[in-house]
Amino acid sequence: MKKLLALVLAAVMMLGIVSVVSAEQKSLKIGVAIYKYDDNFMTLYRTELEKYLTEKGHQVTIVDGKGDQAEQTNQINSFIADKVDVLIVNLVQSTAAATVIDLVKAADIPTVFINREPTAEDMQLWDKIAYVGADARQSGTFQGEIIAETENKGDYNGNGTVDYVMLVGDPENVDAQYRTEFSIKALEDAGLKVNKLFEQRGDWAQEKGQELTANALAQFGKDVDVVFANNDAMALGAVQSIEAAGRVVGKDIYLVGVDALPEAVQLVLEGKMTGTVLNDHIGQSHTAGDVAIKAAAGETLEKNYTVDYVKVTQTNAAEFAAK
Ligand code: GAL
Repeated sequence: MKKLLALVLAAVMMLGIVSVVSAEQKSLKIGVAIYKYDDNFMTLYRTELEKYLTEKGHQVTIVDGKGDQAEQTNQINSFIADKVDVLIVNLVQSTAAATVIDLVKAADIPTVFINREPTAEDMQLWDKIAYVGADARQSGTFQGEIIAETENKGDYNGNGTVDYVMLVGDPENVDAQYRTEFSIKALEDAGLKVNKLFEQRGDWAQEKGQELTANALAQFGKDVDVVFANNDAMALGAVQSIEAAGRVVGKDIYLVGVDALPEAVQLVLEGKMTGTVLNDHIGQSHTAGDVAIKAAAGETLEKNYTVDYVKVTQTNAAEFAAK
């Protein structure tokens, strides 16, 4: 009897292993919800994610949340009705995480959150969810260090303080919060005095970056030493307003972004931006794809998978332009 039980148990275990292996190999139905398509960085990210997963033979459907959480929640419900094997979700609002987790948990569909991080508390709600992203504190720190490492330590006007303008992404997003905080903390940690002249939200968008920088320069003129942009799209807008105001990056003002968009890397090479920070969309999208495949196979997931940022300045920009 014992022998029979052992045999049955062994067979069950083998079947379990076989099903894990086959889930890793079978073509999965994967639903991807992006917060909005109209975002330079997330466009690079989703294009790479789609390529990576389809090349592995999976069926990928991607939808545009258009910056509207209610719309995205509907899209997630449609994916659930369609019985996808796994979901990859770039939330419109991080605060919607708990609602989304309730839905996917009830339907037993493992879910990988990307780019917009749910709180640690929300991540405890279910064991079949994971977050893939980068630690935005690191990107902020790198922005501050890039400025602290310049010849005059970020102080063009020579008044002994780094007088700065901060272009904030979406203040609800931890990426924006941490970049705003840690860029300045890095200057202070380097022993520099700082003075905030202007800080406004630009929602990650180029036009808003342009408008806010124009306003800041009109208001504070030569007092401005540095423009910090929480991302490159806003920095691209800042470049236009800096030039329009007759200011010259590397001569009388500094400008630093995050993402290392190809256009921004080119501007760093040309000296029109002081630097940027690589937000590794290739590393992040591949990790997200791999974690989604593991999740669909029923493997145990970590709560967080983190990809490193990299500083990009004129000395190493060519390396990133080549990529
Ligand atoms: C950030 C990125 C921004 C924007 C944002 C969207 O990580 O730097 O450019 O794409 O994500 O949540």
